[in-house]
Amino acid sequence: MAHFYVTTPIYYVNDVPHIGHAYTTITADALARWHRLLGDDVFFLTGTDEHGLKVQRAADTKGLTPRQHADQTSERFREAWRLLDISNDDFIRTTEPRHYEAVQTLLQAVYDNGWIELGTYEGLYCVSCEAYYNEDDLLPGNLCPIHRRPVELFKEDNYFFKLSAFQQPLLDWYASHPEMVQPDSKRNEAIGLIRQGLQDISISRTSINWGVPVPWDPGHVFYVWYDALINYATAVGYGSDRQRFDTWWPAVHHLIGKDILRFHCVYWPAMLLAAGEAPPRHVHVHGFLLVGGEKMSKTAFNQIAPADLVPEFGVDGYRYHFLRDQAFGPDGEFSYEGMVARYNADLANNLGNLLSRVATVVAKQCGGVGPAPAPDSALAAVAASVWSAARAGWERVAPSDALEATWRLVRETNSALEAAQPWKLQPGPEVDAVMGDALEALRIVALLASPAIPKSSEEIWRRIGLTGAVGPLDRQRLPAAAEWGGYPGGLPVEKGTPLFPRIKPPYNADR
Ligand code: ME8
Ligand code: MG
Repeated sequence: MAHFYVTTPIYYVNDVPHIGHAYTTITADALARWHRLLGDDVFFLTGTDEHGLKVQRAADTKGLTPRQHADQTSERFREAWRLLDISNDDFIRTTEPRHYEAVQTLLQAVYDNGWIELGTYEGLYCVSCEAYYNEDDLLPGNLCPIHRRPVELFKEDNYFFKLSAFQQPLLDWYASHPEMVQPDSKRNEAIGLIRQGLQDISISRTSINWGVPVPWDPGHVFYVWYDALINYATAVGYGSDRQRFDTWWPAVHHLIGKDILRFHCVYWPAMLLAAGEAPPRHVHVHGFLLVGGEKMSKTAFNQIAPADLVPEFGVDGYRYHFLRDQAFGPDGEFSYEGMVARYNADLANNLGNLLSRVATVVAKQCGGVGPAPAPDSALAAVAASVWSAARAGWERVAPSDALEATWRLVRETNSALEAAQPWKLQPGPEVDAVMGDALEALRIVALLASPAIPKSSEEIWRRIGLTGAVGPLDRQRLPAAAEWGGYPGGLPVEKGTPLFPRIKPPYNADR
């Protein structure tokens, strides 16, 4: 059986979930759901990153211990993922004992292999990035280029990872694994960073104790990134169950935003090579969601939470917008008006109308019983080409293309209904033929759209009578289930309330 391991970044608990975090998580969720439909053995991991100075300070500000603060904020992420129907198989917290064990095992291996040594570090540190900067990379006034906040001068004994020794091994690795980082522009960026030259990096701290202790020198704790990245190994058994680890690793798909490319595409593969493990096979990098032209941040006061939008658009309306309109790769501006327009066009009008038309005509002209499709329907060819385009889209982590393809079948089916006008015909074989085809198209759409809009797809599946006769939607297996002719006919079709009520201007008075 094929294995599909997909991850999101583990999010910092100094912040609460916003639509940027949700973007990566929903994309990973849709991919996980797609691969479950393919019959793959799927492991979908998300979680929270809970150590480091940034978190310690956020806790201090609130008068909490780092642990209390982490418990509270980590729960906010789990809450958001429940709200958005995220089907993760595990939720990892870096403060869990299993993670301490894995971090210590992996970094001990790197140490034993001779790639870690003690030194003194003096450098300019951005607490928000949890990273040191070279002076050259700062903005005027010694500001962090990402957070535009002053960096701080730190000096202490640190263990260093000899990253410099991995410049050539990394370049060789990239040359022999051209597919590792996608899209190509991001791969080139990663290679560019490596070619610029790599310096050894500090991986431990003595000034804080909110972290995983260095096993050979417990006065130190590991520096956050060298703790955090290892979560991807912990969750599949690294350090505790070698056989399980080898089942899932290295064929992982890491989904990340471009802000953390350096960590995932340079530091992480180097660290794994140093430990004698294989680097991750796939890193998929996306751009930023911008609000008013700026990256969302606490300091810019421009954060939007999923819970601000779900009441109006529904969970599936929310998911659909981000998957369909925010192409995976480039930056994209978030627009409320754009979200309304997409919802009304694709969900309320196209899909919602199709479902309600079909249910109405079947109730009136077919006695409420759905007829079977014709094997040689013109829509059969559309469905076949939609299936291959959708598969290709999900395969290359382009949900927007996959959904655009899927909605082609929705539009073609609506056009076929408009051409045939079954609502004007007398009950009989002509109406049955048109309605059988439309029901079959709806069945295939529900299936192919389910990674994006799981609850609505299940509801369509149920209303056209499939749940009892054919079995639950999530038990269907691609590609067989996408083949034309799966709607058996003779099933009760239910008329219901609109699945996606139209959103009318002036939308929401607040905006
Ligand atoms: O970096 N647009 O956590 P983090 C799109 N703990 N995606 C966005 C976004 C935006 N405006 N803002 C955030 C960390 N993201 C580390 C990760 S992994 C071993 C450790 C998403 O809470 C995007 O996926 O700052 C980005 O990479 C991630 O959140 C950063 O989350
Ligand atoms: Mg960040």
